[in-house]
Amino acid sequence: MEVIIAPTDELVRIAAQNIDELLRRKPDAVIGLATGSSPLAIYNELARRHNEEGLSFAKARGFMLDEYVGLPKDHPERYRNVIEKEIASRVDWPSDQVEGPNGLADDLPDACAQYEQDIKAAGGIDVQILGIGTDGHIAFNEPGSSLSSRTRIKTLTQQTRVDNARFFDDDIDQVPKHCLTQGLGTIMEAKHIILVATGKAKAEAVHQLVEGPISALWPATVLQMHPHCTVLLDDAAASRLQLNTYYRDTYANKPAWQGI
Ligand code: GLP
Repeated sequence: MEVIIAPTDELVRIAAQNIDELLRRKPDAVIGLATGSSPLAIYNELARRHNEEGLSFAKARGFMLDEYVGLPKDHPERYRNVIEKEIASRVDWPSDQVEGPNGLADDLPDACAQYEQDIKAAGGIDVQILGIGTDGHIAFNEPGSSLSSRTRIKTLTQQTRVDNARFFDDDIDQVPKHCLTQGLGTIMEAKHIILVATGKAKAEAVHQLVEGPISALWPATVLQMHPHCTVLLDDAAASRLQLNTYYRDTYANKPAWQGI
């Protein structure tokens, strides 16, 4: 796990540069897309690179992490719509090359199994963008999730619904209770994971993620077992890290030839 602590604009540049290089090397790359506010600046930068520097998503595939169950097809907070608005429609990404779990399926377990198959058939995810919830969830794998779980239905915690109420007119009653989410086992199969966390509210979850014991109580800790995981943090999100100085020193002395 590589921990990089830097100002937000540098974190954004590091993540976008990695995806940029991947797409130019492998135009049909498979990109794992996260929702939430954390990746938005990265999506802005990717859209800028598309507009100004010719970065193309025309052959890429995209797979989302998760989706609310039951939100109407045209609901603005339906994650498939959020991804369309924040990134896909801003670049040359054909809509049918971006897929999320189908939270409107009649048979939800079947939709989850189909989603797993679709990711596999696309060759697996080359790079997965991730945020982290204040309770240590990734995607919607809430505390207690099996560390080897696959795409399935989950019940959101009260904390997550409170956190996400800001997207639903600050009204928790509008936040769905259920979601479909890639499992921790699914996410762990991505070839490279880039997790971004900013702000003090994430500091405890980040401390657990990087330095805590691996435990279903803090689902993100499973990433300690991933062979290629990059954790991008601002000062506030990094503020509880025990080895804070070491991570900073490592990044300051990172060999120039070494990417993330
Ligand atoms: C939601 C999403 C997660 C995201 C988390 C944090 O619960 N399902 O994928 O990581 O929110 O969101 P934010 O980045 O807005 O803090």
